Amino acid sequence: MKVVLADYSGFCFGVKKAIDMVYDKTSRKTEGAKLFSLGPLIHNQQVVNELEKKGVSVKDDISAITDGSIIIRSHGVPQEVYEKARSNSLDIIDATCPFVRRIQNIVKDYCQNGYEIVIIGNPKHPEVIGINGWCNYKSYIVSNEEDVKDVPYSKKLCIVAQTTIPVSHFNRITELLKVKGDKVEIFNTICNATMERQDAARKLAKEVDAMIVVGGYHSSNTQKLVEICRAEKPNATFHVESVDDLVEDDLKDFKVVGVTAGASTPQWLIEPLIEKLKKI
Ligand code: F3S
Repeated sequence: MKVVLADYSGFCFGVKKAIDMVYDKTSRKTEGAKLFSLGPLIHNQQVVNELEKKGVSVKDDISAITDGSIIIRSHGVPQEVYEKARSNSLDIIDATCPFVRRIQNIVKDYCQNGYEIVIIGNPKHPEVIGINGWCNYKSYIVSNEEDVKDVPYSKKLCIVAQTTIPVSHFNRITELLKVKGDKVEIFNTICNATMERQDAARKLAKEVDAMIVVGGYHSSNTQKLVEICRAEKPNATFHVESVDDLVEDDLKDFKVVGVTAGASTPQWLIEPLIEKLKKI
């Protein structure tokens, strides 16, 4: 079997930075020091398990952490989390992706300058919850065309996007929102890494017999890659978390197989999978 890896796949810049920061911290961790991640560091159970072995415990709520260090993951967190951490004298390891930090700063500035804020994205996604926390939780979160009607007309409107939404979705919604204010500032804050991975997956899916998408079953960017590949290869797209999930029988009839991986999938999960595929 011939295996082709997508031009862009696996860890994005922000996730790599977060992982490097945490591995660096764990390597210097002294005996008994407490290290907590506020939510799983990335949507990849294998990485979370590996970090747990290195002493990183996952806590969902900062109130449950009374001492030690907390890791803020690449999705970022609301502003108040920093205040709580400081008031509890916690050491903060801030792995917020700089692209997410930029959005937090935009909504903070524009909110302080009297703008209503609209975030185009999933209201349940931690990144969006975090951004909303930088404008006093007063933003309108628009996930689809239907939600636009809930955004009232205002004098000044500032629009940002969750980093991982498709650009076509962003364009459709901003077109509808443009008429909702006298002055409308639009920031396309979608991250290139997402688009690069999606475009590369689409391109590769057109060229091969089957696609394997490697990444967490709960990772939204991985699920999106699966969706894109399925649009090209409805009966020949397989989503796996690791090499262990590969079913050889499903793949034996394909000659050329493409591989892509979500932005939270480490190289050490992708490589053994490629090696196994080559042997089929
Ligand atoms: Fe950052 Fe983009 Fe990754 S926003 S965390 S580099 S997908």
